[in-house]
Amino acid sequence: MSTFGKLPAPSDAQAPPDTRAFVIDPASPILLFDSGVGGLSVLAEVRKALPDAPIIYAADNAGLPYGTKTEAQVAARVAGLLGRMTERFRPRLVCIACNTASTIALGMVREVLEVPIVGTVPAIKPAAAMTKTGTIGLLGTEATIRQGYVDRLEGEFAGGKRLLRAAAPELVEAAEARLRGKPVSTDVLARGADRLRALPGGDAIDTVVLACTHFPLLEAELAEAFGPDVAFVHGAPGIARRIAFLTQGQSFVRAEPDSALFTGDDQDVAALGPALSDHGLTRIHFL
Ligand code: DGL
Repeated sequence: MSTFGKLPAPSDAQAPPDTRAFVIDPASPILLFDSGVGGLSVLAEVRKALPDAPIIYAADNAGLPYGTKTEAQVAARVAGLLGRMTERFRPRLVCIACNTASTIALGMVREVLEVPIVGTVPAIKPAAAMTKTGTIGLLGTEATIRQGYVDRLEGEFAGGKRLLRAAAPELVEAAEARLRGKPVSTDVLARGADRLRALPGGDAIDTVVLACTHFPLLEAELAEAFGPDVAFVHGAPGIARRIAFLTQGQSFVRAEPDSALFTGDDQDVAALGPALSDHGLTRIHFL
């Protein structure tokens, strides 16, 4: 049975039926989407919450990095690619496992696609609950830190706190390299930390929002760079809970091995094999 097709309107029946369990094809995957390997930090949490869920992990490696692109470029890529991917793979749910894409294009993509879409937005709310000094750091891409979406989260959840933002594009490259088994220099990690600390009031930061899904892949190294008095927070556990909630009652059957899908057939993709299979993605294919 098809995954899609609208659920009957509640008025079609006496009581709104819980149709989720029988209209969704059990083999229909959850599709996670990022510009690169960052979304694997989200996938790791989704696996813990839903170990039986069939997964397609999609990386727009031909468009990486998103963080240096304009809003129009990111929105066009994300909407176009997700349109193609949802048509081809018929996912039951899409997770945009990328802060840059979500803060720019989540609303727009939700308007044009019928599939439920879960986004990834900076974890400012939990950070505001954690900070003792009242000063929160936020590390993201250049594009994410300038978004009105982040201003709105700050206004809504971090009233009375200070939120200092810095871009750390080199950490995206570092995470991509690390998952390809290449060494990552400690200088690169220190630069991200220093940029945030160098902002006025930056030495009071005790909580850092990792507002790019690539960054939790370097959390151990970032902890060294920031020192023991700084805690990190990111959105992946909350996203996994949200996906589990939205798919509750649905059955899952893994009819084929979980796979990683890439938009560009660059030679580097092969080097990701071990990291992908560590995340349960045992097949690689190209769009
Ligand atoms: N992983 C993406 C994010 O969460 C960004 C990486 C990029 O610049 O493409 O923002």
